[in-house]
Amino acid sequence: MSEKFNIQIEKLNIEAIDLLNKCENEEAFEDWRVNFLGRRGKISLLLKEIPNLPVEERGNAGSKANESKKMLQDLYDTKIEKSSAPNSSDKIDHFDVTLPSRHLPKGSYHPTTKVVREISDAFYNMGFQIIDGPEVEQDTYNFQKLNIPVHHPARDMWNSLWIDKLSDSGETPLLLRTHTSPMQIRILEKHNPPIRVLVPGKAYRYEATDATHEWQFFQIEGLVIDENITFANLKGTLEEFAQRIFGKTRKARFRCDFFPFVEPGAEMSIDCFKCEGSGCRVCGESGWIEILGAGMVHPEVLKGVGYDPNKYSGFAFGMGAERIAMLKHGIDDIRNFYSNDLRFLNQFSY
Ligand code: FA5
Repeated sequence: MSEKFNIQIEKLNIEAIDLLNKCENEEAFEDWRVNFLGRRGKISLLLKEIPNLPVEERGNAGSKANESKKMLQDLYDTKIEKSSAPNSSDKIDHFDVTLPSRHLPKGSYHPTTKVVREISDAFYNMGFQIIDGPEVEQDTYNFQKLNIPVHHPARDMWNSLWIDKLSDSGETPLLLRTHTSPMQIRILEKHNPPIRVLVPGKAYRYEATDATHEWQFFQIEGLVIDENITFANLKGTLEEFAQRIFGKTRKARFRCDFFPFVEPGAEMSIDCFKCEGSGCRVCGESGWIEILGAGMVHPEVLKGVGYDPNKYSGFAFGMGAERIAMLKHGIDDIRNFYSNDLRFLNQFSY
């Protein structure tokens, strides 16, 4: 049996050396390596036979097989080194300058990043400044200074992920911001009118996910403050934005809505890309997909940061970036964005 094993190894060595000498290009070397030294290669198959040999022969057979493996590996390494040496005349003979280069996989921007940049560009071209702000926010900025006191029922509109517990003493605990609106206050506190800013950033909500709701998503906040700003400016700006992003054919709809920090408040929707307005699963059978909330900044909010509401007025809006990417690209489930499925993400690597 051991004799038979030795003959098998000898035969394999001869065959391997012979074929290695015939290898001429990288592909042939790689095939050879897989065939002889790979995990399912011929040497590995021989090693697997050793446990079937009589016990007293196993040690000898094992060292023979390992010797052969090492010898073939050394031969292969030397050949590879030689074939890739820059001064190898062989290689220069076979160098074809007309060959197309090998395909190198390259990364690309996430669809959310793309749409956020597109929207930012649209507003930048309308004279808006782009800024960002903290994702871990204080209760005061996320709620209180936005006209939402500690025990106000409107807090139920935003299911919060708290970092500290809300204390009875009214101290300001921390939370993951539930919207980008706290940046309205931070901007008003730091800058003087005229103000025209856009704040893209992440928002977090403790809520069940479905086709149009994620617990972590991107919002884009806009704020305009100056003298004589009216609701007509709000509508005009947002209609202009919708045309720049969606083209002239998509329909936009404004309806009354309530947000404690604006008066009057509105929501803007776009006709559903999937059913074109007839109603389907994506738009919850309504024919419309809501993309943003907006309104005239509430006088109480302006007073709270030391502005005279009789002199200054303005509007604010907050939109969902993923919802806009869904409309633009016909994506029917928001959960695709962050499930890291490369088949989905690669579609945006243009
Ligand atoms: C707000 O968050 C307000 N801060 C918007 C606002 C700003 C109103 C300024 C007035 C003035 P709302 O909860 O409706 O409102 O969210 C705004 C947009 O964010 C929605 O229209 C939607 O496009 C997006 N959005 C909200 N919740 C989710 C979610 N769970 N997943 C994905 N997108 C969401």
